[in-house]
Amino acid sequence: MNIIVLNGSPKGNLSGTLQYVAYLEKAYPTHQFETIHIAQQIKGIETNPDKFEGIIQQIRSSDALIWCFPLYYMMVHGSLKRFIELIDERDVKQAFQGKYCASISTSIHFFDHTAHNYIHAISDDMNMKYIAAFSPAMNDLLKSKGQQQLLQFGKLFLQTIEQKQITQPQFFPVQTRDFVYQNNKPKNFVDITNKKVVILHDALEQDHNLKQMLAHTRAVFGEKAEVYNIRDIEIKGGCQGCMHCGGSYRCTYEGKDDYIEFYKSKVMKADILVYAGTIKDRYLSSRWKTFYDRSFFNTHTPVLQNKQSIWLISGALDQNPNLKQILEAYHEFQEANLVGIVSDAYGTSEDIDQMIEQLCGRAVENLKDNVSRPVTFLGEGGMRIFRDEIWGGLRMVFTADHKAFRRLGYYKTFPQRSFLNFIMRVFLVPLLSIPAIRKGFNTQMKEQMVMPLKNVVAKARF
Ligand SMILES: Cc1cc2nc3c(=O)[nH]c(=O)nc-3n(C[C@H](O)[C@H](O)[C@H](O)COP(=O)(O)O)c2cc1C
Repeated sequence: MNIIVLNGSPKGNLSGTLQYVAYLEKAYPTHQFETIHIAQQIKGIETNPDKFEGIIQQIRSSDALIWCFPLYYMMVHGSLKRFIELIDERDVKQAFQGKYCASISTSIHFFDHTAHNYIHAISDDMNMKYIAAFSPAMNDLLKSKGQQQLLQFGKLFLQTIEQKQITQPQFFPVQTRDFVYQNNKPKNFVDITNKKVVILHDALEQDHNLKQMLAHTRAVFGEKAEVYNIRDIEIKGGCQGCMHCGGSYRCTYEGKDDYIEFYKSKVMKADILVYAGTIKDRYLSSRWKTFYDRSFFNTHTPVLQNKQSIWLISGALDQNPNLKQILEAYHEFQEANLVGIVSDAYGTSEDIDQMIEQLCGRAVENLKDNVSRPVTFLGEGGMRIFRDEIWGGLRMVFTADHKAFRRLGYYKTFPQRSFLNFIMRVFLVPLLSIPAIRKGFNTQMKEQMVMPLKNVVAKARF
């Protein structure tokens, strides 16, 4: 069989993920694997129609396809996202239709599932036959279990195709509602004296609803709110995955384009951030994706702490819980407060007006009260993955994160570092292995567990 590998790593041949495919290629020598370096060569692919058509031709005449990519901000790299947009813009989806496919990524498992969900949904949208996702940690291939799992995955992939097995789509086609939002004069205005409000968007001429939502937000906040179209910022290219930033937050693009200066002076200095975008396929635009990717010069260190933010989304957010989760998780790991998301997927024009006014008012109110919320599994789980990685295997590369995590107290969350935990482990746990003591403990357990909370409630005076 002839299998096309679409490589979504900006590192091209130096991609770690690609080594997993190379391993499969060696293990199954009767099949041919042809790799196309999509992310690395996106500029040429986009600007040279012959090159693009050549790739589509290769895909058309292949038996199956592998989406091979590193995780970038809970998604694929902005350049692979751009390629996926080109498939739609240039109307060549039929080259993918009916083809078997699978996705292979490497990552540190920080929201790897949302990236695979995205690729699965894209594949379903093109009527491909999506077989499965394979998502090892970066270095799993070094271990015999990792190798075994990869071979099992390869077998599943090849057998499914050879035996022409059936696959089921998991993402229903999106039904966009035919709704034109018309913003009205706001009923409530918000005073932003002494606050820096930055509105970032990627609206194109045709994005009517998004532009109207932006206009309404601007009217509520007034002229002092700064508005930037991220398409106007000079961005020379996507993140190259070189990790030069790991030591001291210095990006190789520094001084070469306007992105870093913009991010530092506008985004990182804002009190309130309003983000706005139109859903494109199953995510936002590739411009937004590149914008996020390039913010990696801050590596894993949160830089939006205590900011209040709002997302304005035009498109069927009601049918895209994956995107919603990505946005929520992003804010949680940045320790910023996502005040809310307004989307034109719901309500009338008046409802949307009101929703925008409400969130803008709440954002300012929140700033005054320094409002934050406890993180959910998204933020808590994500932080623990970062903490363990930066403490351990990734510390050599990300020394700047290591210093920041120490300063931010992330390492204090290691359970073994708490004195109380130590006492519990060394004295109480062995005691509880004595059946008589365990029995007494069991009968008291519910009361004992709730006691400290009850005490706080009892002592509370307002
Ligand atoms: C800008 C950037 C963003 C990343 N985002 C994520 C992420 O969201 N989740 C994750 O688990 N790993 C993330 N990673 C780690 C890479 O996915 C990981 O190093 C991958 O193995 C690189 O594969 P490659 O060598 O094929 O490019 C990110 C790395 C970079 C440079």
